[in-house]
Amino acid sequence: MSNTFDVIIVGGGPAGYVCAIRCAQLGLQTAVVEREKLGGVCVNVGCIPSKALLHSAALANTIRHDAGRFGIEVGNVTLDFSTAIKHSRAVSEQNSKGVGFLMKKHKVTVINGTGRLLPGRKVDVDGETYTATKGVVLATGTRVKGIPPIGLDINRTTVISSDEALFLEKTPGSLAIIGAGAVGTEFADVFNAFDVEVTLIEALPRILPNDDREASAVIKRVFKKRGIRVMEGVTVTSAKVTSRSVTLEVKTGDTADTIKVDKVLMAAGRAMNLEDVGLEAVGIARTDQGFVTVDGALQTTVEGYYGIGDIAGPPMLAHKGSREGLNVAETLAGLTPPPIRYDNIPAVTYCHPEVASIGLTEDQCKEQQLDYQVGKFPMSANGRARAANETEGFVKIIRDRKYGEILGAHIVASHASEMIHELAVARENEYTVEEIDLAVHAHPTLSEAVAEAALDSMGRVLHT
Ligand code: NAI
Repeated sequence: MSNTFDVIIVGGGPAGYVCAIRCAQLGLQTAVVEREKLGGVCVNVGCIPSKALLHSAALANTIRHDAGRFGIEVGNVTLDFSTAIKHSRAVSEQNSKGVGFLMKKHKVTVINGTGRLLPGRKVDVDGETYTATKGVVLATGTRVKGIPPIGLDINRTTVISSDEALFLEKTPGSLAIIGAGAVGTEFADVFNAFDVEVTLIEALPRILPNDDREASAVIKRVFKKRGIRVMEGVTVTSAKVTSRSVTLEVKTGDTADTIKVDKVLMAAGRAMNLEDVGLEAVGIARTDQGFVTVDGALQTTVEGYYGIGDIAGPPMLAHKGSREGLNVAETLAGLTPPPIRYDNIPAVTYCHPEVASIGLTEDQCKEQQLDYQVGKFPMSANGRARAANETEGFVKIIRDRKYGEILGAHIVASHASEMIHELAVARENEYTVEEIDLAVHAHPTLSEAVAEAALDSMGRVLHT
């Protein structure tokens, strides 16, 4: 095997492997360096296996609490988390193998090992040097982090991360989840459905703090109804970790409290895999927040080296990384890809109901003193949602009053993740709210709620 390629990509997650496929499509000799399984966090310990568990959770809740309504009597229901995990792992394995298949199909060379950048567009992989004639792409992603200063190092037994949660054979009796972003909220949903006593702790004043505050409020209400203890505006000040339990000291304003649980799941953000990847050796700069500094073409501060995915800046989302991978591939092939609109990347949290959003929240519109109008439609008024008894949530569209532009959209609904794309396409192409309504929406669908929210923002809602 030759050690020279057109492009060498370090990291085989959704940013790296998608970049590799596009490079290959464009006729570039491409190699991907990966030390673990292909597919990265997303495929192996992130997006994909967690969606399998969330599906188990949603089924468990429906079968136990709602099946009777649909004419299905189920008698005693037994939940087996280890079987749910088995399914989740099988899906993950299948996806990772699928990425391997795609690499073969596109004749991308996969180099197993740890890559480290060297000057001169070279990459060291465990002592072997490879050269890229056109470019080196860094896509090493992130990993879960603990909070060592307060005693919360991830010990993989009583203080775990999503990495371990996705392999648990047995559920703990009680679990405190620290951080109520996407990871924390999704796992709270899963473990609650499997009868774990869940406490969800968020330092900021509300769970899902990046979402529209009305979305956070719905999820908080739904979670509380299901028996999840939701603690907002709470700081964990210290932790006593033993091999059997964890005792957390927490503070809400001036009030202190103690929480004792079997396990703690850390979901308070991620650390970048940038140690010892050769940034200093090559002279690649980092931003104040620690991301790799990249320009509009995702080139780092050193010519011929590119950064994509989580290490290149927020939002840390698989689909954002994949798009960056596509763009870098096209740039390396001499094309001029359209710039990525970072303000139009959908974000989804797959708890039940799901939360999906695009663009500005109402608070951000207020901060920016925009002249806007809100259109809102409750899922409880949507026939399709009622048929499935999935009536929690709403569609909210924030419309620029003067031009009808969609400033932001927020959906809380059983299938919000599928509904948001209509608004993503509209916003990407600068369609107005009026143009959303122009397209006839099929009846009965959840998406009619989008059309109704559009109408509501113009004062013409039909079904409320
Ligand atoms: P995150 O940054 O989205 O959320 C972490 C939460 O923890 C924040 O709300 C933060 O305020 C809170 N927090 C931080 N320190 C805390 C403390 N000491 N005590 C209590 N709360 C604290 O990080 P997360 O959820 O770990 O996800 C990591 C990345 O992966 C994010 O960029 C996320 O968007 C992405 N991701 C996306 C998913 C999706 O698209 N469905 C699923 C999972 C992760």
